[in-house]
Formats: sequence, C-alpha cells, structure tokens
Amino acid sequence: MHNNKLLSSSILVTGGAGFIGSNFVLDWLKQSDEPVINLDKLTYAGNLSSLESIKNNPGHIFVHGDIADRGSIRDLLENHQPRAIINFAAESHVDRSIHGPDDFIQTNVVGTFHLLEEVRAFWQGLPESEQSKFRLLHVSTDEVYGSLEPDDPPFSEFSPYSPNSPYSASKASSDHLVRAYHHTYGLPTLITNCSNNYGPYQFPEKLIPLMILNAVNNKPLPVYGDGKNVRDWLYVTDHCAAIRTVLAHGRPGEVYNIGGNYEKTNIEIVQTICSVLDELQADQDGHARKSSYLDLVTFVTDRPGHDRRYAIDAGKIKRETGWIPKESFETGIRKTISWYLDNLEWVKNSTDGSYQNWITKNYGSRRKK
Ligand code: NAD
Ligand code: TYD
Repeated sequence: MHNNKLLSSSILVTGGAGFIGSNFVLDWLKQSDEPVINLDKLTYAGNLSSLESIKNNPGHIFVHGDIADRGSIRDLLENHQPRAIINFAAESHVDRSIHGPDDFIQTNVVGTFHLLEEVRAFWQGLPESEQSKFRLLHVSTDEVYGSLEPDDPPFSEFSPYSPNSPYSASKASSDHLVRAYHHTYGLPTLITNCSNNYGPYQFPEKLIPLMILNAVNNKPLPVYGDGKNVRDWLYVTDHCAAIRTVLAHGRPGEVYNIGGNYEKTNIEIVQTICSVLDELQADQDGHARKSSYLDLVTFVTDRPGHDRRYAIDAGKIKRETGWIPKESFETGIRKTISWYLDNLEWVKNSTDGSYQNWITKNYGSRRKK
C-alpha cells in the first residue's frame, strides 16, 4: 500500500561527525541551502568539534544515534522524509579491526543491514513517482578489491572483491548487501569505492595526521615493514565533490571508483611531510633545523596481512559525470599540515580519553627493525 507521502528537500548523512562525513556536511552547507540531518553514534572517531562552525546553522540537524537502531532510523525517515541518504557511518581503521573485529562486523555489516531494512520499508511506502527520485549512496573503499602487484592495472569497477583485513571484509559485506537491495528490491542505490583520503579533521590514528603530529612532538615516526606499501591519495574535499556528483548524476545500481591518481609509497609520503615541516621550521627560525624531521623515521614491525598496493582507475566517474580531482598532493599536503598546526586544540579534544590506550596497544609491541 502506498501512502501519499512526498520526499522533502533534505538529505540524511550518517557518520557526519567523522573525518569524511564532517568535511562533506561542511562543504554541503557551503554550496546548498538544502538541510542536512546528521546521524552519528559519536564513537571515538566522531567529534562534534569538527562541526563547531555550523553549530548555529538551522540547516544542520544533528542526531546522536546508531545506524543499527531501527527505531531511531524509522523515526528519522518518517519525520524528515529525506530525498537521499549518504552512508558514511563505519568503523574505519584497519589496525583496530585487527585488534578487535567485533565493532566492525556490528556497524559495517549488521548496522548497514538494519539501515537498509528501514530505508527499504520507507522507500516502498513512497508513491512510485517519488521512489524513482530517491537515492541511497553507500560510501565504501578501494580496500574491498584486495592488494595489487607492482605492475597490475589499477582497480576498476570490474575488479573482483578480494578483501584481506577484517575492516575490508566488513566493508565488502556491506557493499554486497547494498548491491543486493538494488538487485532484489529495486532500491535506487549508488556505491562509491574510494582510495585513501587525507585533509582536515582526520582522526590522528591514520598515517598522515599521525606522522605530522608525532613529528611536531618530536616522537618516532613508526613506518610499518619496509615502508614500500603503496596507497593512492585523495584530498578529502575532492572526495566530497565526487560524492555530490555521483549523487546528482550517478546511475542507480552502479558502482563508481574514486581516486586521486597519486600513487606513492608510505615512506615517500612520510619524507614529503618531513621536508615540508623542515621548511616551515626553517622559515620560523630563520635558519634550518639542526636535524631533519626525517631522523625521527623508525621502521617497525609490519601490520599483519598488510596490503601491498592499492590504485584506482577513476575513468568511469570521469566519463559519466566529468568529475576529476582538483587538488594536487603538493598543495593538499601543505594545506593539511597547516590545518593540523593551526588546530592543536581540535587534536587535543579528539585524542583525549581512550586514544593513549590505543597507541600503547598498537605500537607498544612493535619492534624497531
Ligand atoms: P571515521 O572513522 O573518521 O568516521 C566514522 C564516523 O562514523 C564517526 O563519526 C563515528 O562516530 C560514526 N559511526 C561509527 N559507527 C556508527 C554507527 N553504528 N552509527 C552511526 N555512526 C557511527 O571514518 P572516515 O575516514 O570519515 O570514513 C567514512 C567512510 O568512508 C567509511 O565508510 C569508510 O569506510 C569510507 N572510506 C574512508 C576512507 C579514508 O581514507 N578515510 C577511504 C575510503 C573509504
Ligand atoms: P592508514 O592510514 O591506516 O590507512 P589504510 O590502512 O586504510 O590504507 O595507513 C596507510 C598506510 O600507512 C598503510 O600502508 C599502513 C601505513 N602505516 C604506517 O606505516 N604506520 C602507521 O603508524 C600507520 C597508522 C599506517
């Protein structure tokens, strides 16, 4: 039975207090008057101070809640009738998934399933004309495709799924569920698989902010294994623009790979961070630092099952929507470093609490190589 409910002009974002989600919400409200409902569980990775600048913006409605809580999702959908949902909510750190996979299965798999079930019920209750306008965009990762050899072509939307960590396996499961809800029920879904993001508001456990903050605090820079694992890096606002583009122009049921076309080894990334910091320090002191930040680099025990290389072929999104990344790594990394140096209060806020326990758990038993 269909009711005569109409979709409103609003979007629901889940996980909008995390790194990419908060950047997405901030950018959205800069470019659009359309309100955003932001549902976030506020785990260790969610931080309301990332949304401080829109605290009094009536276009931002924050709701503290869990994507696995069916009642809350149902109420939100009923009350706001969003025309689209963008699902960022996830446990996102590979190392944490190795130490404790439970939360990854709970949020990334079970949570996505509950969200899908409520969205399906809501969507099936819409008149047909509204059903075709609705979108559920699920944000995922290139890690679902597994690891590449040095000469392999980059991942395309046709690459087979081959996840290697509990994190990537949980994201792969969620992608499969989203795909199945399109195939079986016709839910108008979109899936985006993106490469490594960097930029403001990233929780300091991830490679780039960890290295910046360790360096300025004169702490060792812990590079796993031989430092030659390769990642493709994308500035976060480019990712946000890609998601807006896929939401507007992507074809329901399709998958879009998003990448920065910037493949580098981890050690090259750390070297770049060190040389920018050396330069900034020299500018500040009027002379070069006696020793380079590079002296802090410490090779440590590798991550178990560490994927060697990720790379993205972003040809489909370019062909179908015209999206390409705007920021180069050279400019993006400088913006990112400056942001962290200017926002040490945000860092302090987000790393209070249990973060020190995590550092001890993850790095305490790694040996120097
Ligand atoms: P993040 O860990 O910084 O943020 C995740 C957010 O989700 C946090 O605010 C957290 O509180 C919230 N959350 C966690 N569990 C929840 C639940 N059960 N219900 C509601 N909210 C919950 O992650 P991120 O780096 O911003 O990543 C966002 C999405 O993008 C994830 O789905 C991730 O898999 C994907 N992704 C990230 C990257 C990257 O480089 N960071 C790359 C590709 C894809
Ligand atoms: P990370 O930021 O955790 O992202 P992902 O594992 O999702 O790619 O790590 C990026 C790369 O940096 C990865 O190859 C692991 C490596 N790494 C280190 O060498 N040292 C560290 O302390 C961290 C956190 C990551």
